[in-house]
Amino acid sequence: MPAPGLAKYEPAMSDQSTQQQTAMRNYYRLHAAIYDATRWSFLFGRKRILKQLPIRNHLPQSLLEIGCGTGHNLRFLARQYHFLQLTGLDVSKDMLAQAARSTARYADRVRLIEQAYGEQSGITEQAPDTILFSYALTMFNPGWEKAILQACNDLPAGGRIAVVDFHDTPSGVFRWWMGKNHVRMEGHILPFLQSTFRTEMLEIRPAWLGLWQYFLYIGVKADR
Ligand SMILES: C[S@@+](CC[C@H](N)C(=O)[O-])C[C@H]1O[C@@H](n2cnc3c(N)ncnc32)[C@H](O)[C@@H]1O
Repeated sequence: MPAPGLAKYEPAMSDQSTQQQTAMRNYYRLHAAIYDATRWSFLFGRKRILKQLPIRNHLPQSLLEIGCGTGHNLRFLARQYHFLQLTGLDVSKDMLAQAARSTARYADRVRLIEQAYGEQSGITEQAPDTILFSYALTMFNPGWEKAILQACNDLPAGGRIAVVDFHDTPSGVFRWWMGKNHVRMEGHILPFLQSTFRTEMLEIRPAWLGLWQYFLYIGVKADR
C-alpha cells in the first residue's frame, strides 16, 4: 500500500528494469533513515545545481525531480520559490516516506509519486518546465539512457533538464566500491546528455582531492 498522500503507479516493465527497481527498494529500505545524516559528505553540487536553475521570479512554473529520495532538493526549492509547483517521483517508498515528512510544510505545492521512471512517463497532467535528476541517473543500471530519453519526451520544447551526478574516478577500487553500492561511475552519462540536449551549462569538478569527479549539467530541449 502506498503511504497516505502518495500516488502509486506500476506499469509493466522488463525483467532487468524490475531487478533494478527491486535492488533500489531493498537498498533504500536500509538507507532511508540515515540518508540525510550521511550523504552531505559526498553528494556534492546539489545546492549549486538548484541555484543555477533559470527560475524566473514569480512566474508559475513546475519542476519534476526524478529519484527525489528524501526530498532534500524539493524542500530547498519549496522554501526558496513559493510560486514553483514541485513533483517528486521515486521508486522507493521508504525514501518517499522521508520526503513526505521533510516537505510536509509545503504539501500544497509538493506532490510525491511512487513510481519507477524510464519505460513510462512521470507526467500525469501538464509537462514540467524542468526535470531534475540529482544523483539518480548513475543508479539507473540498466535504464539511464531510457530515463534521459523519457525526460526529453516529457519536456516541452525549450524545457530544461538539470543533472548533478558522479562523473568518473581514476581509482579502480573506488569504482568497484561504488558499484557495490549500485552506482556506475564511468563517465557515461555526460556524452549522452550532450547528444540529446543543447548544453546550456556544464561543470566537471573534483571531489575528495580527485578521488572522483562529479558534474553539473543543464540542457535545453530543442524545438523540433
Ligand atoms: C542517491 S538517491 C538521490 C536522492 C535525491 N535526488 C538527492 O539528491 O538526495 C537516488 C534515488 O533514485 C531513486 N531511483 C533509483 N532508480 C529509480 C527508478 N528507476 N525510478 C525512480 N527512482 C529511482 C532511488 O530510490 C533513490 O531515492
